[in-house]
Amino acid sequence: MTVEIIPCTKTMAAEIRGVDLSQPVDDDSAATLLEAWHKYVLLLFRDQKMTDQQLKNSAAWLGKTSQIAMPVDRRGDDDIEIQKVSNIRDKAGKPIGALGDGEMWFHHDNSFTEAPDKATWLYAVELPSTGGNTLFGNCYESYEALPKELKKEIEGRKVLQVYDFTIREKPRRNELADVPHYWQPVVVQHPVTGRKALYLDRLMTAAIDGGSDAESDELLGQLFPYIERIDYEHEWQLGDYVIWDNRCSVHARRDFPADERRLLKRGKVEGDPLLSAKIAAA
Ligand code: SIN
Repeated sequence: MTVEIIPCTKTMAAEIRGVDLSQPVDDDSAATLLEAWHKYVLLLFRDQKMTDQQLKNSAAWLGKTSQIAMPVDRRGDDDIEIQKVSNIRDKAGKPIGALGDGEMWFHHDNSFTEAPDKATWLYAVELPSTGGNTLFGNCYESYEALPKELKKEIEGRKVLQVYDFTIREKPRRNELADVPHYWQPVVVQHPVTGRKALYLDRLMTAAIDGGSDAESDELLGQLFPYIERIDYEHEWQLGDYVIWDNRCSVHARRDFPADERRLLKRGKVEGDPLLSAKIAAA
């Protein structure tokens, strides 16, 4: 197997050629993929043809498949390793998947858990004629772009990450009894590259510690625009398989026609608790 690596943009993403993910990846290729994934944050494999069982093994070169955290009533079916991201409904009108229609704001996956998944993959099965591109931001670049004073202001602090996609008003710190949530470092130190990544987003971050709610809102308002950068925009083709590092990137989705079908399959790779940049540097 000769693995070819073609960078997609200056700051993020590379297309991989010469790898058929439906087959086990040999050790040399796995090492090459791993190095490229850490360097480019996201890898794209085109023209992949995989059954669900093959998809479940597709990221074995990276780690152990994680089980879907989303409750069954929100995700459409009960497969615990593959989730359908889709607006399609069955004959009874029931959604076959989750995260159906429309635009989605930038976010990290599972940031409200103690050990967020390290990677997420998406595989394109049915696509609308237009729209539905997935956008990716490189959070190392987000951190680098912060002015010195902001870097100093957030050093060693934590952000409250909540699982609360359904409402736009985020719960306050005293309203968390029924909301899955976790306090994460606002600057994460990547365990392999050692680089610092900004870790917050408008969809899931409800507060930053150390001040009043008003101060928290004000500071988050200054920080969010740094995360909302498009380093790579993926225009889907059938058979595309994209896998990204969830610790140092965010993703979002553009709108698409609600009357056209879109189906992506999605899986995750288990991660560890995130390292605070300050603690890791000590
Ligand atoms: C997601 O956030 O995983 C969904 C992205 C997409 O539908 O493009």
